[in-house]
Amino acid sequence: MPQILELIREDHGLIGVLFDDLENKPETRDVRCITLRRELTGHMYAEEATLYAWLRDMVPEEIRRSLDEHDAVRAVLVRFERIPLRDDAWMPGLRELRGEIEAHFATEEGRVFALAEQHLSQDNLFELGETFRQEKEAAAQTAVI
Ligand SMILES: [Fe+2]
Repeated sequence: MPQILELIREDHGLIGVLFDDLENKPETRDVRCITLRRELTGHMYAEEATLYAWLRDMVPEEIRRSLDEHDAVRAVLVRFERIPLRDDAWMPGLRELRGEIEAHFATEEGRVFALAEQHLSQDNLFELGETFRQEKEAAAQTAVI
């Protein structure tokens, strides 16, 4: 099992590919929207239950900020999902959501990852990788947001 930061980076890449498909392949949009919701909400939930929970006491302000960013992503996602697929507002809504998420990913891979490497041991990071995977699976069963 890879360490947690590698798994998170992998998820970020996968979510980027999903956005590419959503933008460029109109015929699969309905299915991809369902996948995006599942991947994104499961990913954020698992992150909060693992990496953020571990770092919260060590770097409270940074984690507060990251949690606020997750809440902002959730709010934009809920707004986006109210737009019908064939509405003119759909593509701008998708791009707004993507912008919000990619800004968060960039902060996370920069500042949060650096703090994780500074405060958590390699063993910790590997153990958290396993827990992250389990939490994502659990989230997929229960439709979290
Ligand atoms: Fe995140």
